[in-house]
Amino acid sequence: MVRSYTTEPVDPAVLDRVLTNATRAPSAGFSQGWGFLVLDTPADVRRYWTATADAIDEPDQWLRGMMRAPVVVVPCSSKAAYLRRYAEPDKGWTDMDEARWPVPFWHMDAAMASLLILQTAVDAGLGACFFGIPPKRVWPLREEFAIPDAFDPVGAITVGHPAAERGAVGSPSRRSRKEVTEVVHRGNWGVDGRDPG
Ligand SMILES: Cc1cc2nc3c(=O)[nH]c(=O)nc-3n(C[C@H](O)[C@H](O)[C@H](O)COP(=O)(O)O)c2cc1C
Repeated sequence: MVRSYTTEPVDPAVLDRVLTNATRAPSAGFSQGWGFLVLDTPADVRRYWTATADAIDEPDQWLRGMMRAPVVVVPCSSKAAYLRRYAEPDKGWTDMDEARWPVPFWHMDAAMASLLILQTAVDAGLGACFFGIPPKRVWPLREEFAIPDAFDPVGAITVGHPAAERGAVGSPSRRSRKEVTEVVHRGNWGVDGRDPG
């Protein structure tokens, strides 16, 4: 994740590829219940930060680096689209019972599309960062950009050219990557009798 950018614009053709690839993400039942609010002008990006951040006139290091990104994408997911899709004859869940969904696939699919946005940006030599929207800022964001009730923002993604200085560093500077052997459980999870944690 890149949290500090130059102000150099993103080539519109590259942004188109980023967004096209997002739509190639897998989705449960091919529901494609996602939507992407794309902000790619200085004025619109400014509206994003005004709606979602405190103290944009006195930004901390994180906000200073992130606010320079020329593109912000807000991936959204629609639970209703999945309930509707799975009520169709080939799925047959006509009761639209949410208990059928112990894992919210609508958010998962938006997350998969988000990863394709990140990866396409990196492939194009750009940087990107997925980050959360503060809960109390979701309504201001909805109102500012007329996001329909049926769609929930799952986060936001900055895209741009990475600055030479790294800016705010993330959690990997404070904690180490888990070893594959710590997280892979072959054949049985608690096979060695220890608390699997
Ligand atoms: C669901 C999710 C939420 C995240 N939220 C934030 C965030 O709010 N702010 C931020 O700076 N980074 C955020 N990140 C980035 C993570 O901190 C970062 O992916 C992690 O520390 C690993 O670093 P790396 O992606 O650079 O390898 C988020 C990542 C994910 C997947």
